[in-house]
Amino acid sequence: MYNNNIVIAIDGHSSCGKSTFAKQIALKLGYIYIDSGAMYRAITLACIQQNLIANGKVNLEQLPNLLQHTEVSFISKTDSTGWITLLNGADVEEEIRTLKVSENVSLVAAIPMVREKMVEQQQQMGKNKGIVMDGRDIGTVVFPNAELKIFMTAQPEIRAQRRLKEMEDKGQKVSFHEVLANILERDRIDQSREASPLRQAPDAIILDNSNLTVSQQMEWVMELIETKLKEIRKG
Ligand code: CDP
Repeated sequence: MYNNNIVIAIDGHSSCGKSTFAKQIALKLGYIYIDSGAMYRAITLACIQQNLIANGKVNLEQLPNLLQHTEVSFISKTDSTGWITLLNGADVEEEIRTLKVSENVSLVAAIPMVREKMVEQQQQMGKNKGIVMDGRDIGTVVFPNAELKIFMTAQPEIRAQRRLKEMEDKGQKVSFHEVLANILERDRIDQSREASPLRQAPDAIILDNSNLTVSQQMEWVMELIETKLKEIRKG
Protein backbone atom coordinates (compact mmCIF):
# COMPACT_ATOMS: atom_id res chain seq x y z
CA MET A 1 0.00 0.00 0.00
CA TYR A 2 2.77 2.43 0.91
CA ASN A 3 5.21 1.69 -1.87
CA ASN A 4 5.85 5.35 -2.67
CA ASN A 5 8.31 6.54 -0.08
CA ILE A 6 7.85 10.16 0.93
CA VAL A 7 9.45 12.58 3.36
CA ILE A 8 7.29 13.69 6.28
CA ALA A 9 8.45 16.82 8.11
CA ILE A 10 6.99 17.60 11.53
CA ASP A 11 7.85 20.94 13.09
CA GLY A 12 6.37 22.90 15.93
CA HIS A 13 6.61 24.21 19.46
CA SER A 14 8.42 22.55 22.37
CA SER A 15 6.80 19.58 24.03
CA CYS A 16 3.67 19.17 21.97
CA GLY A 17 4.27 15.50 21.36
CA LYS A 18 6.07 15.71 18.03
CA SER A 19 8.38 12.81 18.82
CA THR A 20 5.63 10.42 19.90
CA PHE A 21 3.59 11.36 16.86
CA ALA A 22 6.49 11.06 14.41
CA LYS A 23 7.56 7.74 15.91
CA GLN A 24 4.07 6.26 15.53
CA ILE A 25 3.76 7.41 11.93
CA ALA A 26 7.13 5.86 11.09
CA LEU A 27 6.16 2.59 12.74
CA LYS A 28 2.89 2.44 10.83
CA LEU A 29 4.54 3.15 7.47
CA GLY A 30 7.74 1.19 8.08
CA TYR A 31 9.71 4.42 7.71
CA ILE A 32 12.80 5.64 9.54
CA TYR A 33 12.15 8.10 12.37
CA ILE A 34 14.71 10.76 13.24
CA ASP A 35 14.45 13.01 16.29
CA SER A 36 16.48 16.04 15.17
CA GLY A 37 16.05 17.64 18.61
CA ALA A 38 18.00 14.74 20.13
CA MET A 39 20.94 15.73 17.93
CA TYR A 40 20.92 19.34 19.22
CA ARG A 41 20.49 18.00 22.75
CA ALA A 42 23.52 15.72 22.36
CA ILE A 43 25.72 18.58 21.10
CA THR A 44 24.51 20.66 24.06
CA LEU A 45 25.46 17.88 26.46
CA ALA A 46 28.92 17.77 24.87
CA CYS A 47 29.26 21.55 25.42
CA ILE A 48 28.22 21.16 29.08
CA GLN A 49 30.65 18.27 29.61
CA GLN A 50 33.52 20.28 28.09
CA ASN A 51 32.60 23.38 30.15
CA LEU A 52 31.92 25.44 27.04
CA ILE A 53 28.82 27.11 28.50
CA ALA A 54 29.10 29.85 31.15
CA ASN A 55 26.77 32.68 32.13
CA GLY A 56 24.32 31.93 29.34
CA LYS A 57 27.05 32.07 26.67
CA VAL A 58 28.74 29.41 24.58
CA ASN A 59 32.50 29.60 24.07
CA LEU A 60 32.58 30.18 20.31
CA GLU A 61 36.36 29.94 20.08
CA GLN A 62 36.45 26.37 21.31
CA LEU A 63 33.23 25.27 19.64
CA PRO A 64 34.70 24.43 16.18
CA ASN A 65 37.15 22.02 17.78
CA LEU A 66 34.38 20.39 19.81
CA LEU A 67 32.19 20.02 16.72
CA GLN A 68 35.04 18.47 14.79
CA HIS A 69 35.53 15.81 17.45
CA THR A 70 31.89 15.16 18.26
CA GLU A 71 29.76 12.57 16.56
CA VAL A 72 26.06 12.11 17.16
CA SER A 73 24.49 8.87 16.00
CA PHE A 74 21.56 6.57 16.73
CA ILE A 75 21.24 2.84 17.37
CA SER A 76 18.05 0.84 17.53
CA LYS A 77 16.81 -0.23 20.99
CA THR A 78 17.11 -3.98 21.52
CA ASP A 79 13.31 -4.34 21.48
CA SER A 80 13.14 -2.19 18.31
CA THR A 81 10.75 0.33 19.90
CA GLY A 82 12.90 3.32 19.03
CA TRP A 83 16.38 4.74 18.92
CA ILE A 84 19.07 5.43 21.48
CA THR A 85 21.05 8.62 20.95
CA LEU A 86 24.82 8.18 21.07
CA LEU A 87 27.39 10.88 21.72
CA ASN A 88 30.79 9.70 20.49
CA GLY A 89 29.52 6.16 20.84
CA ALA A 90 28.18 6.54 24.43
CA ASP A 91 24.48 6.13 25.28
CA VAL A 92 23.20 9.59 26.33
CA GLU A 93 19.50 8.98 25.67
CA GLU A 94 18.44 9.72 29.28
CA GLU A 95 20.91 12.46 30.01
CA ILE A 96 19.89 14.60 27.02
CA ARG A 97 16.30 14.79 28.34
CA THR A 98 17.20 16.38 31.69
CA LEU A 99 16.23 19.97 32.52
CA LYS A 100 19.91 20.98 32.56
CA VAL A 101 20.19 20.13 28.86
CA SER A 102 16.74 21.59 28.07
CA GLU A 103 17.81 24.87 29.67
CA ASN A 104 20.82 25.23 27.37
CA VAL A 105 19.76 23.55 24.14
CA SER A 106 18.06 26.51 22.46
CA LEU A 107 21.17 28.58 23.07
CA VAL A 108 23.39 26.02 21.37
CA ALA A 109 20.87 25.30 18.59
CA ALA A 110 20.85 29.00 17.64
CA ILE A 111 24.53 28.91 16.59
CA PRO A 112 24.94 28.70 12.77
CA MET A 113 27.97 26.37 12.79
CA VAL A 114 26.06 23.89 14.96
CA ARG A 115 23.05 24.01 12.63
CA GLU A 116 25.22 23.57 9.53
CA LYS A 117 26.72 20.35 10.81
CA MET A 118 23.38 18.94 12.02
CA VAL A 119 21.43 19.86 8.87
CA GLU A 120 24.01 18.23 6.63
CA GLN A 121 23.79 15.00 8.62
CA GLN A 122 19.97 15.12 8.61
CA GLN A 123 19.79 15.62 4.86
CA GLN A 124 22.10 12.66 4.39
CA MET A 125 19.79 10.51 6.54
CA GLY A 126 16.80 11.44 4.39
CA LYS A 127 18.31 11.10 0.95
CA ASN A 128 16.46 7.82 0.21
CA LYS A 129 13.14 9.20 1.53
CA GLY A 130 10.90 6.92 3.62
CA ILE A 131 11.64 9.11 6.63
CA VAL A 132 9.71 11.01 9.30
CA MET A 133 11.77 13.74 10.96
CA ASP A 134 10.64 16.10 13.71
CA GLY A 135 12.17 19.38 14.79
CA ARG A 136 11.95 23.12 14.22
CA ASP A 137 13.27 23.69 10.69
CA ILE A 138 12.61 20.38 8.97
CA GLY A 139 9.96 21.63 6.53
CA THR A 140 11.65 25.00 6.01
CA VAL A 141 15.38 24.22 5.80
CA VAL A 142 16.26 20.53 6.05
CA PHE A 143 13.65 19.15 3.62
CA PRO A 144 11.96 22.14 1.92
CA ASN A 145 10.60 19.71 -0.71
CA ALA A 146 9.07 17.27 1.78
CA GLU A 147 5.85 15.81 0.39
CA LEU A 148 4.03 16.28 3.70
CA LYS A 149 4.68 19.01 6.27
CA ILE A 150 2.87 19.30 9.57
CA PHE A 151 3.21 22.16 12.05
CA MET A 152 2.26 21.10 15.57
CA THR A 153 1.19 23.24 18.45
CA ALA A 154 -0.83 23.06 21.68
CA GLN A 155 -1.58 25.36 24.61
CA PRO A 156 1.59 25.93 26.73
CA GLU A 157 0.02 24.74 30.01
CA ILE A 158 -1.12 21.52 28.40
CA ARG A 159 2.35 20.98 26.94
CA ALA A 160 3.97 21.63 30.34
CA GLN A 161 1.63 19.17 32.03
CA ARG A 162 2.45 16.44 29.52
CA ARG A 163 6.21 17.06 29.75
CA LEU A 164 6.07 17.13 33.57
CA LYS A 165 4.40 13.72 33.62
CA GLU A 166 7.01 12.34 31.23
CA MET A 167 9.84 13.62 33.45
CA GLU A 168 8.20 12.41 36.67
CA ASP A 169 7.72 8.98 35.13
CA LYS A 170 11.49 8.90 34.58
CA GLY A 171 12.08 9.83 38.24
CA GLN A 172 13.24 13.40 37.52
CA LYS A 173 12.27 15.92 40.20
CA VAL A 174 10.96 19.14 38.65
CA SER A 175 8.04 21.48 39.25
CA PHE A 176 5.24 22.43 36.86
CA HIS A 177 6.46 26.05 36.87
CA GLU A 178 10.04 25.14 35.99
CA VAL A 179 8.84 23.03 33.08
CA LEU A 180 6.40 25.68 31.84
CA ALA A 181 9.06 28.42 32.09
CA ASN A 182 11.51 26.29 30.11
CA ILE A 183 8.96 25.58 27.37
CA LEU A 184 8.06 29.26 26.99
CA GLU A 185 11.69 30.34 27.00
CA ARG A 186 12.69 27.74 24.38
CA ASP A 187 9.77 28.79 22.16
CA ARG A 188 10.90 32.39 22.48
CA ILE A 189 14.53 31.67 21.56
CA ASP A 190 13.58 29.19 18.79
CA GLN A 191 11.22 31.71 17.16
CA SER A 192 13.44 34.77 17.45
CA ARG A 193 16.85 33.39 16.48
CA GLU A 194 18.40 34.49 13.19
CA ALA A 195 19.53 31.09 11.94
CA SER A 196 16.56 28.99 10.74
CA PRO A 197 13.98 30.28 13.22
CA LEU A 198 10.98 28.16 14.12
CA ARG A 199 8.23 29.11 11.73
CA GLN A 200 5.49 27.40 9.85
CA ALA A 201 6.37 26.53 6.23
CA PRO A 202 3.77 28.08 3.88
CA ASP A 203 2.71 24.62 2.72
CA ALA A 204 2.56 23.05 6.19
CA ILE A 205 -0.72 21.84 7.67
CA ILE A 206 -1.38 22.97 11.24
CA LEU A 207 -2.21 20.47 13.94
CA ASP A 208 -3.29 21.88 17.32
CA ASN A 209 -3.52 18.81 19.52
CA SER A 210 -4.53 20.57 22.78
CA ASN A 211 -7.75 18.58 22.86
CA LEU A 212 -6.87 15.53 20.80
CA THR A 213 -5.94 12.08 22.02
CA VAL A 214 -2.96 10.27 20.54
CA SER A 215 -5.25 7.94 18.60
CA GLN A 216 -7.39 10.81 17.26
CA GLN A 217 -4.36 12.58 15.86
CA MET A 218 -3.13 9.31 14.38
CA GLU A 219 -6.43 8.82 12.55
CA TRP A 220 -6.23 12.39 11.27
CA VAL A 221 -2.71 12.01 9.91
CA MET A 222 -3.23 8.60 8.31
CA GLU A 223 -6.07 10.01 6.24
CA LEU A 224 -3.84 12.86 5.19
CA ILE A 225 -1.03 10.49 4.22
CA GLU A 226 -3.32 8.27 2.19
CA THR A 227 -4.65 11.26 0.27
CA LYS A 228 -1.09 12.43 -0.36
CA LEU A 229 0.04 9.01 -1.59
CA LYS A 230 -2.97 8.75 -3.92
CA GLU A 231 -2.11 12.14 -5.39
CA ILE A 232 1.49 11.05 -5.94
CA ARG A 233 0.47 7.78 -7.61
CA LYS A 234 -1.84 9.66 -9.96
CA GLY A 235 1.14 11.88 -10.84
O1 CDP B 1 11.00 17.54 22.66
P1 CDP B 1 10.99 19.05 22.68
O2 CDP B 1 9.92 19.61 21.79
O3 CDP B 1 10.95 19.63 24.03
O4 CDP B 1 12.36 19.55 22.09
P2 CDP B 1 13.33 18.83 21.08
O5 CDP B 1 12.63 18.47 19.81
O6 CDP B 1 14.05 17.77 21.81
O7 CDP B 1 14.35 20.01 20.71
C1 CDP B 1 15.16 20.62 21.69
C2 CDP B 1 15.63 21.98 21.20
O8 CDP B 1 16.52 21.80 20.08
C3 CDP B 1 14.56 22.93 20.70
O9 CDP B 1 14.00 23.73 21.73
C4 CDP B 1 15.34 23.79 19.70
O10 CDP B 1 16.01 24.84 20.35
C5 CDP B 1 16.38 22.84 19.15
N1 CDP B 1 16.04 22.28 17.83
C6 CDP B 1 16.31 23.03 16.72
O11 CDP B 1 16.76 24.16 16.82
N2 CDP B 1 16.09 22.51 15.46
C7 CDP B 1 15.60 21.28 15.31
N3 CDP B 1 15.43 20.79 14.08
C8 CDP B 1 15.27 20.51 16.45
C9 CDP B 1 15.49 21.03 17.71
